[in-house]
Amino acid sequence: MNKISIQNILKSSSLNTDFSVSGWVRNKRVSKKIAFIMLNDGSCIQDLQIIVEDSNLLVQVFKQISIGSSINVIGKLIQSAGKEQSFELIAKEIKLIGYADPEKYPIQPKKHTLDFLRKNAHLRFRTKTFSSIFRIRHALSFAVHQFFNNNNFYYINTPIITSADAEGAGEMFKVTSLDINKLPLTDKGLVDYEKDFFSKQANLTVSGQLEAELAALGLSKVYTFGPTFRAENSNTSRHLAEFWMIEPEVAFSDIYDNIDLATSLLKYVAKYVLENYIDDITFLSDRKEKEEQSIKKEDRSSKNLLDTIQHIIDTDFTTITYTEAFKILKNSKKNKKNKFQFPVNEWGIDFQSEHERFLVEKEFNNPVVIIDYPKDIKAFYMRLNEDNKTVRAMDILFSGIGEIIGGSQREERLDFLKKRMQEMYIPEKELWWYIETRCYGTVPHSGFGLGFERLVQFITGMSNIRDVIPFPRYPSQIEF
Ligand code: 4AD
Ligand code: MG
Repeated sequence: MNKISIQNILKSSSLNTDFSVSGWVRNKRVSKKIAFIMLNDGSCIQDLQIIVEDSNLLVQVFKQISIGSSINVIGKLIQSAGKEQSFELIAKEIKLIGYADPEKYPIQPKKHTLDFLRKNAHLRFRTKTFSSIFRIRHALSFAVHQFFNNNNFYYINTPIITSADAEGAGEMFKVTSLDINKLPLTDKGLVDYEKDFFSKQANLTVSGQLEAELAALGLSKVYTFGPTFRAENSNTSRHLAEFWMIEPEVAFSDIYDNIDLATSLLKYVAKYVLENYIDDITFLSDRKEKEEQSIKKEDRSSKNLLDTIQHIIDTDFTTITYTEAFKILKNSKKNKKNKFQFPVNEWGIDFQSEHERFLVEKEFNNPVVIIDYPKDIKAFYMRLNEDNKTVRAMDILFSGIGEIIGGSQREERLDFLKKRMQEMYIPEKELWWYIETRCYGTVPHSGFGLGFERLVQFITGMSNIRDVIPFPRYPSQIEF
């Protein structure tokens, strides 16, 4: 028997051929003479309509086949008479694989809240919305690898357990094999990490950048794509405690090359999903439009999801300096009327998401690249500008998201790097290996980090980051 996925059967032109299809029942309608089963196997957004006319099968469908049950159907593929679908399957045999008790099965063919589905994350893959999101997540991941491979980058795996905590990107989770109820202590009463697994304090990484830099200073063009962990207590719709990051690092490259690379990557992956996953994107675009009808007009997106993604592909991003952005924000009506939760008064403040979104959504109506941030709000490794006050940082801001990318040209000059580390109390002995790359054959180089979930959020139009990773981790949440 021709075993086939729903994605492939809907593309098939083998009419009047018998196929064997398996999936979960999304919906069913049964009458005395005919039953319709909407079957989905997650291979694509469409359901396959199964037509049941045989009287024995009808009894079986009526008695056994509930919504959520898994079944196997053998039947003949025919052209559909209905408008909703092009093909349907006339059932010859139906086998119940796994029964779902309709009294108990949580996923019913009605609207569930996203919060309800988050609590049922083990079953939410079966819904239209979440199967679409996770197909797009796959597509984006594939497109990222394809982009880098096409551009002759090498994929590098950087450590997940690390002893370096110098990046300053956020609070770290500690990794230990010590019995935490019986910790060995030093004379001074501190934990004796000498006795721990690595004979040193260890953490989960917040970024693969420092190691990616080492690789770039030999392989020239590399990228990492792995999980990163931050223990900050930020309960927002854009933060996770465990998230995936894409971090390219390029030798012989300055901040403008870096912006070009980031821009090309974003455009490439956006184009890839529009070209290959238009059914899922269209569904999510309609979903978002419906969702936004319940919020205030001024908070709604100015474009639908499809146009928002297309805009990324078509437009030139706006590049401005931190100082220019600061002036715009400071002089904005919104700031003067005290409408920002965090007022913009003094040069040197870190921008909040409300400021970033103001620039992107109200001021420019375009993606914005901000460069040359004050050195005091950025990491030690960013290259110092001539003004001695700002560094060659670049953040890319998107509508609905705020910061999607953070990166910089790196400090490749040994003396500048050491001075900055001293100022920021970063012990040289912790990062001796990083410093040595500046001693031997140092070169200008740049890189950035693209938050993968923020990218998936942008492309799927989901307002909460917890809905774009299968099993989100955030404060007090480690179920599944
Ligand atoms: O700006 P960040 O902290 O930069 C770095 O970690 C650098 N080492 C990157 C580099 O230059 N190689 O983080 C980069 C991106 C952010 O722009 C954001 O998209 C995402 O990672 N991000 C988060 N995403 C989800 N949850 C969090 N808690 C995140 N923190 C950062
Ligand atoms: Mg950042």
